[in-house]
This record gives sequence, structure tokens and C-alpha cells, in this order.
Amino acid sequence: MSSLKGREIVLGVTGSIAAYKAADLVRRFREAGAGVTCVLTEAAARFITPLTLAALSGRPVGRDLFDDKLWSMAHLGLAKTADAVVVAPCTAEHLSLLASGSAEDLLTALILATRAPVFLAPALHEPMWTHPATQKNVRACREYGYRFVGPVKGPLASGDTGLGRMEETDKIVAAVAEQLKKRSKA
Ligand SMILES: Cc1cc2nc3c(=O)[nH]c(=O)nc-3n(C[C@H](O)[C@H](O)[C@H](O)COP(=O)(O)O)c2cc1C
Repeated sequence: MSSLKGREIVLGVTGSIAAYKAADLVRRFREAGAGVTCVLTEAAARFITPLTLAALSGRPVGRDLFDDKLWSMAHLGLAKTADAVVVAPCTAEHLSLLASGSAEDLLTALILATRAPVFLAPALHEPMWTHPATQKNVRACREYGYRFVGPVKGPLASGDTGLGRMEETDKIVAAVAEQLKKRSKA
């Protein structure tokens, strides 16, 4: 995990029940020596409080593309300083936005603007994951070079078991660390 030391991670969080696991991701990235800036969608803020992520990361949380108080750290700043952008959990909605090249919120705008590797950790019900529309979006995201971590098979929030569970947080951190090992710090 030494490849994470001194690195800057942008952690995008979207609106899934699995958003609570973002708190653990922040903790793990920080324990590995990385700085973490969280960017939440509007829906994500209904699942986990921005205050929790601000307290754990020690930084303000980005939420609004048009927030002038955060302008210096907002989409272009974050896009430039990030060593990796990780979206965990990533909803079906955000897979669709990313596949279409949307820049409608802070998270999509900064992903469009960054040269850093982008990791997507989807969390959704199996029928949503296997839907042809989602699979088309996944192929488009892969074409753009975005890396997928999961989803995996397991118990889902609905009580069903299936493919759609967000990958475990330690595996997400390991995937980012592995990739950053190959990229020397600019
Ligand atoms: C209780 C609840 C749980 C949800 N869980 C998921 C989920 O795991 N994956 C997903 O793709 N959408 C899920 N949704 C739907 C998203 O929250 C919804 O599509 C939202 O518009 C996503 O917005 P965002 O991608 O901008 O965060 C859930 C909705 C509710 C009400």
C-alpha cells in the first residue's frame, strides 16, 4: 500500500445504500497515507451525511458544481490534483451519465476533466446490472479507460442474493494502490 502514501484520492459517492461504506474507504485510504477529498451527489447525501465524510477526511466535502466557496478546489482543481478518482458506490444513474460524457454535476465534470485513472465500484441490484442499457454503459465507460472494481455476487440490500454488490473496501483500495504503483508521481 506504500504506493498510496502522499497521493491524492478523489472519492465520489453516489446514491446507493452502500454509500455508508464510503466512510470505511476514507479511513482505509488515509491509513495508507493518502489525502482524500469526497465528492457527493445530491442523492448520496441522503444516504450518508457529508459531515461524517468531512470529519473522516479532514476536508470539506464537494457537493455543488456552482459552490463559489469551494471554487478553488472544485472540478478543475480536483481534476488536476487527483492521482486517482474512485466512485464508490457508483449507481446505475452515474454509469449512464459517465457513459454519455455528462458534466452535469461536480463528480461527472471532474471525471471528464481529469487525466487521473478513474475507478468505478458499482452497487446495484442484479437486474439493473444485467440490463442491456447498463451493460452498454459499462462498455462505453471501459472504452474511455475507466476501470471497474466489482460488482461481486453476494447479499444485496433488498435481501436477495445476486451480482451487484459493491466490491469489499479493502479490495477497492488494493486495486487503486496496484494501479498507482505503475504510475510514478507527477
Ligand atoms: C433506498 C434506495 C436505495 C437505492 N440503492 C441504489 C443502488 O444500490 N444502486 C443504484 O444504482 N441506485 C440505487 N437507488 C436509486 C438511486 O438513488 C437513484 O437512481 C438516484 O437518482 C441516483 O443518483 P446519483 O447517481 O446522482 O447519486 C436507490 C434508491 C433508494 C431510494
